[in-house]
Amino acid sequence: MLRSVVGTRYVTPLRAGGSLPGLVEADDDGLYVVKFRGAGQGVKALVAEIIVGEIARALGLLVPDLVLVEIDAELGRAEPDPEVQELITGSAGVNCGIDFLPGSFDYNPGVADSIAPDVAAAVVWLDALTTNVDRTPRNPNMLVWHGRTWLIDHGAALYQHHGARPLAERAREPFPMIADHVLLPVASSVADADERLAALLDEAAIARVVALVPDDWLGPDPDGARVSYVAYLTARLAAPRGFVAEAEAARVA
Ligand SMILES: Nc1ncnc2c1ncn2[C@@H]1O[C@H](COP(=O)(O)OP(=O)(O)OP(=O)(O)O)[C@@H](O)[C@H]1O
Ligand SMILES: [Mg+2]
Repeated sequence: MLRSVVGTRYVTPLRAGGSLPGLVEADDDGLYVVKFRGAGQGVKALVAEIIVGEIARALGLLVPDLVLVEIDAELGRAEPDPEVQELITGSAGVNCGIDFLPGSFDYNPGVADSIAPDVAAAVVWLDALTTNVDRTPRNPNMLVWHGRTWLIDHGAALYQHHGARPLAERAREPFPMIADHVLLPVASSVADADERLAALLDEAAIARVVALVPDDWLGPDPDGARVSYVAYLTARLAAPRGFVAEAEAARVA
């Protein structure tokens, strides 16, 4: 289970984020970057945050702690900005919180050395597996904190779940967008990363991660939705993994 906290104070919006995430203090005295359920990206972006963030963690990559944040509509009452107020009042209930990394700065592709080549290859492998379109030079979605690179912002991953067709049917579709990945120029072999990483994930591991998503975000049939996420990711993981060949071809191109 993910830890649950209650939001006690809305501190400030993070204007850099397209979904207008906010910094929220919680009843455990922690500070969290909250992705709001009422944001334009919809609740599926929160599902992707949890599934992809926790898969990354299972692969040994650095991801800030993820928590569920209970938001009371009252929390927005004093907000002067009507856009923020509407977002908070429209997000009453369970939201996604990411542990705030104080003093971190955005990963800059021009600055070398903040990520090792094999770790970069692992991130490419993760993003290819989970069809993450949001780790580009324009929008790297990584933070450097205490000299190490942390992964954030997985809300745009699993993009096929926004479509009308059943997810599991789409598991073997190509993912050419991997060619835009910010880490391709600094990554070592994605095929070698595959040998290390594929062994860490199986259907049971995927199911454990998918089980962390609250029912509330999964529509009228949460268990059915979980089955389809597990089937989708398990099918992507089945050998031969087309996403690995695709990512490796983009890397050497
Ligand atoms: N855990 C964190 N600790 C510190 N800063 C963070 C954290 N999470 C996000 N930020 C800051 O907030 C910005 C926006 O966060 P994030 O990328 O998750 O939001 P978003 O709305 O999905 O953004 P976009 O769609 O524009 O990429 C980040 O670029 C980063 O500067
Ligand atoms: Mg972002």
